[in-house]
Amino acid sequence: MLSTGNALTSDIAHDQTTLFRSDGLCFPHLVPTTLCRRATAPRYLRLARLKDSLSRLSEPQVVALGQLLPGLLCGEESSFHVFWREGHRGSNVQVSHSEALADQIALEELEHERLLQDLRACCPVPNDLASTLARTRRFFRRMASRDPAIHFARVAALDSAVCIVLSTLVKPLSRATALIEIFNRIRSDEARHVRFSRWHSYDLGADTSLLAKTAARIRGELVALLYPLGSAFEDLGLDADHLFRRIAMQNSGSYEQEL
Ligand SMILES: [Fe+2]
Ligand SMILES: [Fe+2]
Repeated sequence: MLSTGNALTSDIAHDQTTLFRSDGLCFPHLVPTTLCRRATAPRYLRLARLKDSLSRLSEPQVVALGQLLPGLLCGEESSFHVFWREGHRGSNVQVSHSEALADQIALEELEHERLLQDLRACCPVPNDLASTLARTRRFFRRMASRDPAIHFARVAALDSAVCIVLSTLVKPLSRATALIEIFNRIRSDEARHVRFSRWHSYDLGADTSLLAKTAARIRGELVALLYPLGSAFEDLGLDADHLFRRIAMQNSGSYEQEL
């Protein structure tokens, strides 16, 4: 979902706030410090709780988790860019309701980044990290569109599929309660992002046909992106083929029924 990172950097640089550079994996970005000092517990305590939680999983499950996390994290970074930009594309004279919502969602994507970074710090780094990142970057760059109606139709389709993936992971990983809390938190937020993005896409001129066609294309491309990670899904305790079929067959407006 990334558009142009330099433009984002420029947008943020015009904010008269202190900036820090995110520890990005695919799409690093600058963040005003006013947006990012909300962590509840010190990091070492959060990591200790996560490590304890992951100790209840099998070693292959933790390794598999380490393989899936980079892609999820890239998605969060890309989403931050998209929603931040949408929250700041107005005239600065009056912030619209949708801009305010987009800004709020950008904040949530930042929090998702932090949660997944914590989780990633507790899992082994996968051997094929470089190739996974290269494929994931290409995927998100292809998602970008100059037409915001299409772009947000794509966001809706992708976030909807992410909800399916996260909801499917809950059962086989249920012993790791701190991990499940993270997945449930992200899934709950993403379901709301789907609703915003669909509504916003309609507002920008999309119709039902465009949303349906876009969703079908995105579902297919996402399954292709995830396909090489099939064995990781299997190690986590899922039937990868069944998961991919669910994503591929998902109706464009069916995320509520799926969750
Ligand atoms: Fe997110
Ligand atoms: Fe999102």
